[in-house]
Amino acid sequence: MRISDKTNPVEYRAVQDRYDEMTYRRCGNSGILLPAISLGLWHNFGYVDNIEKARNILKVAFDAGITHFDLANNYGPPYGSAEENFGLIFKRDFVKYRDELIISSKAGYDMWPGPYGNLGSRKYLIASCDQSLKRMGLEYVDIFYHHRPDPDTPLEETMGALDQIVRQGKALYAGISNYPSDMAEKAAAILKDLGTPCLIHQAKYSMFERWVEDDLLDILDDNGVGCIAFSPLAQGMLTDKYIHGIPEDSRAAKDMTYLERSQVEAQLPKIKQLHELALERGQKLSQMALSWLLKDDRITSVLIGASSTNQLKENLDALDKLEFDEDEIRKIDEVLKS
Ligand SMILES: NC(=O)c1ccc[n+]([C@@H]2O[C@H](COP(=O)([O-])OP(=O)(O)OC[C@H]3O[C@@H](n4cnc5c(N)ncnc54)[C@H](OP(=O)(O)O)[C@@H]3O)[C@@H](O)[C@H]2O)c1
Repeated sequence: MRISDKTNPVEYRAVQDRYDEMTYRRCGNSGILLPAISLGLWHNFGYVDNIEKARNILKVAFDAGITHFDLANNYGPPYGSAEENFGLIFKRDFVKYRDELIISSKAGYDMWPGPYGNLGSRKYLIASCDQSLKRMGLEYVDIFYHHRPDPDTPLEETMGALDQIVRQGKALYAGISNYPSDMAEKAAAILKDLGTPCLIHQAKYSMFERWVEDDLLDILDDNGVGCIAFSPLAQGMLTDKYIHGIPEDSRAAKDMTYLERSQVEAQLPKIKQLHELALERGQKLSQMALSWLLKDDRITSVLIGASSTNQLKENLDALDKLEFDEDEIRKIDEVLKS
């Protein structure tokens, strides 16, 4: 897909004050600071999407101090197309800012046919990382993740592949995603022994999905591993968009997404109550949902998606109010546990 010269004839220059408002948090026991809000390219960046819109979202993000863009081999649709589109935009707008960016990719889900394009073998991870670099036109990614645990491949092999990718200079840091607590602890121990410490765990965490609170956050903290919370808005449910029905252009209304209408309808009573609590705090629900995660300093960053620059700007304003009093926490817990 071509990037039009007409819509943006002027060369992109990031605003000078881009680091003034964002806060940065140390990722585990590492040298890396991540922005409190990071941007993911799972949706809205594939061939099915408008690349100029996608490009604007990235520019607004970077201008607001979002230095971390997260991808994976299979983001699109079709698979690979988010990385290819990102590569086009990167070449056009962001090459000069490469050293100001943390770009991540992953492998772990089905990517190509046959036994070597899925899960956690060394064969798959090494090939997939090479393919991702090619699609994005990058010499290296900052973080390469194993996207999900593989029950059949020895963890030593998968972690060995991450270590190899780092030693080859194709990634600067290694990460894991969707690993349950016990496997995360083992993975971190293996990576430590290999001399490539696990930088980060990318875990699903939102008001509606609280499994990480059981013991994962403590385990990561004890092992010096950061945590980035994905789908922190529960794919848009924790915003005011579904309060009056399911809009035509929303994720829940589209085919081929992971958000069903029935899921939204089931959560609607809670969404409405949380919306009221957010208004009492002087926030939108989206902002309260993000600040609620960020009140815990074991959360390095919240990894949001956005289908417009307005959504992104609204979400960024979450950073204006991260504190909660005991009463607010109690009322939110009551709604979530009801
Ligand atoms: N590791 C993994 O297995 C994994 C899995 C999933 C995601 N991720 C990562 O996490 C990133 C974020 O996931 P996500 O997109 O599910 O995150 P999310 O922030 O929970 O949901 C983003 C979606 O919510 C809606 N939205 C966002 N802000 C809004 C606002 N202010 N008002 C109204 N609607 C708003 C938009 O959907 P509409 O299209 O409805 O406007 C947007 O695309 C992904 O891009 C990816 O990088 C990782």
